Amino acid sequence: MPEVMIPFNRAALEGRELAYMAEAVAGGHISGDGPFSRRCHEFLERELGVRKAFLTTSCTHALEMSALLLNIQPGDEVIVPSFTFVSTANAFALHQARPVFVDIRPDTLNMDETRLEDCISPRTKAIVPVHYAGVGCEMDVILEIAGRHRVAVVEDNAHGLFGKYKGRPLGTFGCLATLSFHETKNITCGEGGALLINDPQYIERAEIIREKGTNRSQLFRGEVNKYTWMDIGSSYLPTDLLAGFLYAQLEVCDRIQQSRRRIWEHYYGQLHTWAGEHNVRLPVIPDSCEHPSHLFYLIMPTHADRQAMIAHLRSHGIYAVFHYLPLHLSEMGRKAAGKTTSCPVSEAISSRLIRLPLFTTLRREEQEKIIETVMQFY
Ligand SMILES: Cc1ncc(COP(=O)(O)O)c(C=O)c1O
Repeated sequence: MPEVMIPFNRAALEGRELAYMAEAVAGGHISGDGPFSRRCHEFLERELGVRKAFLTTSCTHALEMSALLLNIQPGDEVIVPSFTFVSTANAFALHQARPVFVDIRPDTLNMDETRLEDCISPRTKAIVPVHYAGVGCEMDVILEIAGRHRVAVVEDNAHGLFGKYKGRPLGTFGCLATLSFHETKNITCGEGGALLINDPQYIERAEIIREKGTNRSQLFRGEVNKYTWMDIGSSYLPTDLLAGFLYAQLEVCDRIQQSRRRIWEHYYGQLHTWAGEHNVRLPVIPDSCEHPSHLFYLIMPTHADRQAMIAHLRSHGIYAVFHYLPLHLSEMGRKAAGKTTSCPVSEAISSRLIRLPLFTTLRREEQEKIIETVMQFY
């Protein structure tokens, strides 16, 4: 057993999480949309400049709400990158929509906007760019193509809270956007997410869909004297206990972001020369993007080297992981797409990418150990 054990991620309290959860209990409101949910909504609306923010139980659920809001029907097509988490496509496949998988750019690992036009058909209902690692997709091009074809854009911004493209926050470009507060994300409450709405036409219905298809929110605001079933929906709102946890993290987001940036930059600075000498690729950040230091990855020269690097780190007690398995090759991805798709860049990257531990309580000596062990590999 190695002496040092460094996990891939370590949950941590960053501020007043426990105090706010206790406050929610003491205040007698632990179901959804209590005082802490309101504070989170106001924070996101103010800091990002979105028209409306709704906390959800996950980013997956925010994506599912997007599919409902866009009235996705069987046979509709939704363009998604193959190199992403299952939920990006599954939210739409739930409605028997067909995912059209687009390959990624080899530099940022984001949706390759130059291939987008070829994926559009008269059945295309939405484009779902994923800002991988919180590095913005080429939104100018994506929005131009979407606008010309009258197709909705839903940003899957699970990674990119506080990231910017050309100075503008990620999550403000699509008519809808989603966030994740899963435990591995920069700002977390264990499991959680948010739906961000930039096009006001979706606000009223989103509120109903999120409350089991009812207008209960209107009742709570005193706008109606009873609430009833208005539309389809589900239960997408998190308990105020989690909203309290989340708000405590949002309150200290500058410190969290700074500490992650220090770790990310230290990895980059220390590994840059070694990577160049050994044909290992580090993240590429275009000048147009400010990223939130969400994840740090290496792209190894071969799949065999990636596997060997993971084993090498593991043998020194360091837990590094890989993701994503390309969706176009998955069992469900093939079935839902109804055809074989070619995404060679996604396949090559997926087999060679490795993510290093990155969390605020990673101590400097732990990071030095990781860097040293990585560099021992070649
Ligand atoms: C790009 C992307 N979209 C969506 C999700 C789903 O997020 P959640 O776990 O909050 O549902 C993830 C999860 O990591 C993700 O990486």
